[in-house]
Amino acid sequence: MAQQEDVFKKLISHCKEYGFVFPSSEIYDGLSAVYDYGQMGVELKNNLKKYWWDSMVLMHENIVGIDSAIFMHPTIWKASGHVDAFNDPLIDNRDSKKRYRADVLIEEQLAKYDDKIDKEVAKAAKRFGEAFDEALFRVTNPRVVENLQKKEVLHQRFAEALNQNDLEALRQIILDEEIVCPVSGSKNWTEVRQFNLMFSTEMGSTADGAMKVYLRPETAQGIFVNYLNVQKTGRMKIPFGIAQIGKAFRNEIVARQFIFRMREFEQMEMQFFVKPGTELEWFEKWKEIRLKWHKALGLGDHKYRFHDHEKLAHYANAATDIEFQLPFGFKEVEGIHSRTDFDLSNHEKYSGKSIKYFDPELNESYVPYVVETSIGLDRTFLSILAGSYEEETLPGGESRVLLHLPPALAPVKLAILPLVKKDGLPEKARQIINELRFDFKCQYDEKDSIGRRYRRQDAIGTPFCATVDHDTLQDNAVTVRDRDSMEQIRVPIEELRSLISDKVDLKQLLKKQA
Ligand code: GAP
Repeated sequence: MAQQEDVFKKLISHCKEYGFVFPSSEIYDGLSAVYDYGQMGVELKNNLKKYWWDSMVLMHENIVGIDSAIFMHPTIWKASGHVDAFNDPLIDNRDSKKRYRADVLIEEQLAKYDDKIDKEVAKAAKRFGEAFDEALFRVTNPRVVENLQKKEVLHQRFAEALNQNDLEALRQIILDEEIVCPVSGSKNWTEVRQFNLMFSTEMGSTADGAMKVYLRPETAQGIFVNYLNVQKTGRMKIPFGIAQIGKAFRNEIVARQFIFRMREFEQMEMQFFVKPGTELEWFEKWKEIRLKWHKALGLGDHKYRFHDHEKLAHYANAATDIEFQLPFGFKEVEGIHSRTDFDLSNHEKYSGKSIKYFDPELNESYVPYVVETSIGLDRTFLSILAGSYEEETLPGGESRVLLHLPPALAPVKLAILPLVKKDGLPEKARQIINELRFDFKCQYDEKDSIGRRYRRQDAIGTPFCATVDHDTLQDNAVTVRDRDSMEQIRVPIEELRSLISDKVDLKQLLKKQA
């Protein structure tokens, strides 16, 4: 675990060193849980957005996109339940004065039981070698059985406390499990209190009577309040979806782990409107589609898992998370929720306007049910970086740091490197870039030895480097080096476009899901 934490720290430094992510307002000592994306980060992020957008609106005839405003009428947040119920249960440690989310402390405790079990299994597997029967060991080993039982009891108490919104019960679990503050090491806990996560500000001048407005904590509501506009103007028939990418804001109290939990972040959400009664079927379908989307990135299928919610959000009748194995454990990157007609019905109620859908096939009007897929752009960005970061030791003992980014997402697709800064090689390299810049992102680099330039490209995940040497001037060919295998092949310049285009095209990812 300590080793993983180390890797995570290195990844954070790497993000800064190579222009992926900077702490916000750094020259003023930063702003907690707010980050800026640098020159490489923004390219990766834009590619990732395009991958999601195309997989929704290009690949599905019945999904269209919108871009709604961040500010919305404040009653929307009353109707959606966020004013009353968008809370985190917080607990303070009296000695360290640190504040924690009570649910997160308990989730970490649950993970500790899993860790203990996994350690026992790993130890036994080593001891028994080939003959090891893991399934049998898990049900017979006393220590494994005991930890499993403890975990199940805790799990049940936790789910009950959350579902009944019982803050005292949450506190009691923390005391009974003897959970200590990671900073002070003490069990001197306060009561658990609810804390609303929405940011608010004032719109209009005070003389006119300013109105309290919220910074949206999810993009979904912008879709709900526009669903009938889109349905009517787009002549959409149920089932259909509306996709949106945009900023969301939450006043996260426990803001740790880099861009995993931010106060300003981006979501990519799709609300799928279905006939009531069919929502759970669609929920299953979307779970499958979304998992495929993640796995197509090639970071390793074993790094993903579903995690059903302990407590259903105030709007859901089924919910699951897609989790990715980050250096600090399996963590949620996407939520898939069956939101029933909760939001639309409440908007009808609070606005006083009918937003029913007329179903021409049934010849009746109804409020559709909604299945939503909601993925955090920043968390996905982090999972891709964590999943592709490698410190590799090369056969000669040398080492290199590289990002095995999916080529379609890499910020730079091809680096063009003149072997030396003279003899007409830079001019030739520029000529190649001028031709290829219409097709994909190229980068020119002539500084330092060729080896160092390769390392720099490895570090930002550039899938291909093309070296222009003296022979190029004669044979009109370049040496193309592959980032992952480091293999080099000679390629005629005229074939460069099709060779690289084919490999870095987003189609490669989209086709894996078809
Ligand atoms: N509309 C439903 C919704 O917002 P959510 O599970 O609260 O559901 C969806 O959020 C996704 O947004 C999460 O899976 C996560 O990837 C991302 N997300 C939520 N809070 C975040 C935060 N503070 N920082 C970064 N990403 C966050």
